[in-house]
Amino acid sequence: MAVTEQPGKPGLGERIYALLFQNYIWRSVFRSGYPNTPRNQMLVVATNVFLHLHPTRIHRTHVKITHTYCLGGLSFFMFLGLTVTGVLLMFYYIPSTETAYINMKALETDVQFGLLMRNMHRWMAHAMVILVFLHMMRVFYTGAYKPPREFNWVVGVVLLVLTILLSFTGYLLPWDQLSIWAITVGSNIAGSAPVLGGDVKFTLFGGFSIGQTSLIRFYTLHVIALPLLAAVFMTVHFWRIRRDGGMARPL
Ligand code: HEM
Repeated sequence: MAVTEQPGKPGLGERIYALLFQNYIWRSVFRSGYPNTPRNQMLVVATNVFLHLHPTRIHRTHVKITHTYCLGGLSFFMFLGLTVTGVLLMFYYIPSTETAYINMKALETDVQFGLLMRNMHRWMAHAMVILVFLHMMRVFYTGAYKPPREFNWVVGVVLLVLTILLSFTGYLLPWDQLSIWAITVGSNIAGSAPVLGGDVKFTLFGGFSIGQTSLIRFYTLHVIALPLLAAVFMTVHFWRIRRDGGMARPL
């Protein structure tokens, strides 16, 4: 006997659609409806783990590109890009003085898109240093460091130092002549500081001169310690912007 749909009752397809997208499963993931009303638009922002970092409503100054040039946002974008390309590089790089340089050269010739991956990591690192510096200039020139944002300025200074340290530690990893001598010069500068200088240099090198102990220290700092610290401070930085009443506005 043929099974026929009763008139007025939803068909199987409609019922599956309703089950998936209008009812339990869909609603368990997305708490708000389609963002076509101001209320739903605010709910979408407030109930999404990524979007809720932003306020549901902002002042029109904050969407004006010339107010921030999105320099902080671009610095963060570079950080994300560096994390992705850095993890990809970790699949090929061994932090040993015997193999590090050969690994980097092989990456450029033997691995598909290896050169692109390496260059993206390098150029994004340069870009991040420049962007963070420009972001700091923007914050200064718009007077956004003044109360109540003075604490966030200090968090920013820590982020600037971490960015420079990430760049410095990464520079040694290819283990070519340029890296070895650049780090030797940098560490000697640190070493000439009064009182703690000698200890700092010894700690950085893991001995009296640059070698395998230095490479593994710089590697661990570069891929674990410093990125983790930077991520924690960035979280505080973004959270503070909200707590300080959003971004500063011209008087
Ligand atoms: C890794 C480094 C950094 C990242 C990813 C970052 C990210 C951001 C972002 C996304 C904003 C929102 C406004 C914008 O996009 O310009 C912001 C605001 C701010 N940043 Fe940074 N920042 C960094 C470093 C710094 C530095 C070095 C300073 C200062 C020394 C600083 C101080 C501030 C202050 C005071 C604000 C609030 C600005 C306002 O209210 O207009 N940040 N930051």
